[in-house]
Amino acid sequence: MNDMICIRGAIQAENTKESIWKETEQLVRQMLEENQLALQEVVALQFTVTKDLDQAYPAVAARKVGLTEAALSCVQEMYVEGSLPRCIRANLWVENGKKQSQARHVYLGGAKVLRPDLAAKQSKNAFAIAIDGPAGSGKSTVAKEVAKELDFVYIDTGAMYRAVSLYCIRKGISPRDGAAVEAALDGFSMELKREAGQMKVFLDGEDVTTTIRTQEVGQGASDVALLLPVREKLVELQRQMAEGQNVIMDGRDIGTNVLPKAQVKVYLVATAEERAKRRVGELEQNGQKAVFATVLQQIEERDHNDTTREHNPLRKAADAVEIDSTHMTIAQVKEAIIDLVKEKREA
Ligand code: DC
Repeated sequence: MNDMICIRGAIQAENTKESIWKETEQLVRQMLEENQLALQEVVALQFTVTKDLDQAYPAVAARKVGLTEAALSCVQEMYVEGSLPRCIRANLWVENGKKQSQARHVYLGGAKVLRPDLAAKQSKNAFAIAIDGPAGSGKSTVAKEVAKELDFVYIDTGAMYRAVSLYCIRKGISPRDGAAVEAALDGFSMELKREAGQMKVFLDGEDVTTTIRTQEVGQGASDVALLLPVREKLVELQRQMAEGQNVIMDGRDIGTNVLPKAQVKVYLVATAEERAKRRVGELEQNGQKAVFATVLQQIEERDHNDTTREHNPLRKAADAVEIDSTHMTIAQVKEAIIDLVKEKREA
């Protein structure tokens, strides 16, 4: 039998049933994700709640996340004058074969003040890999592999622009209609969640991971990515997601704009013909028909859009290492990136 370890977490909530459940769900999901835990590895989850939160039990939200086997309990946190109000704290007991020193504690929002030592430690030790490059250069395939091998969190920023595109299309808004897209942005809410080791994209709570992969949504993503309000909103989210953890993030402006301090920056390229060939292969594998000349033309249009736009166009960062994947396998590109990480860590 493995030893148990305990992961700590905390978050603040409003004193309503909805808020207590929503914030608890976010906290628990993040604790599970950051520690890459399967539900069956959780033995017990104990909540303490300050006395000013009395409208709901947080354990209800933990059951909703899927913790149906684990022992759950809620007790009141002792009251100390001047202490942080409206706070839910969690002790997550797990058997995951790791040591207590490997636990990643999660303090969110206002509750970060409870453990400034952890926040400082996390951001100091966090390592970021930025991968930029044109559509079809293999960024996401390679980034997923590197994330798995190094145990990093993978953030696919293209999926975020795709989610905005899908959101607009569904609302009957053309992704090219800047004013209408901007007006609709307030209602846009998306999440990237790791489920069973896979990154999933949720739009208003619906899993759209597959839906955003169509050519139409991709073209719309390239269009909404031209708009400054869209970029500002998504870049802020991307920086928040990267905060304090080891990440590999791919996109067009990661090394130049989103994470300019990333320790490793890669500019991944391949010829347009090779990228079109790969895309045709992908579409055919998914049972879709594809004409090489049309796909090549779409890729060239996306390249033009991405490199000539006014705000944060696709560029190689001055300190990025260029890798041309035209004649390389996925494994070779992965190894090249892991070598760069090793070099940086040993330096
Ligand atoms: O990588 P992808 O095909 O999923 O990206 C979709 C579009 O999003 C792409 O045409 C450009 C845009 N994008 C961007 O402008 N900045 C990023 N960081 C990521 C993607």
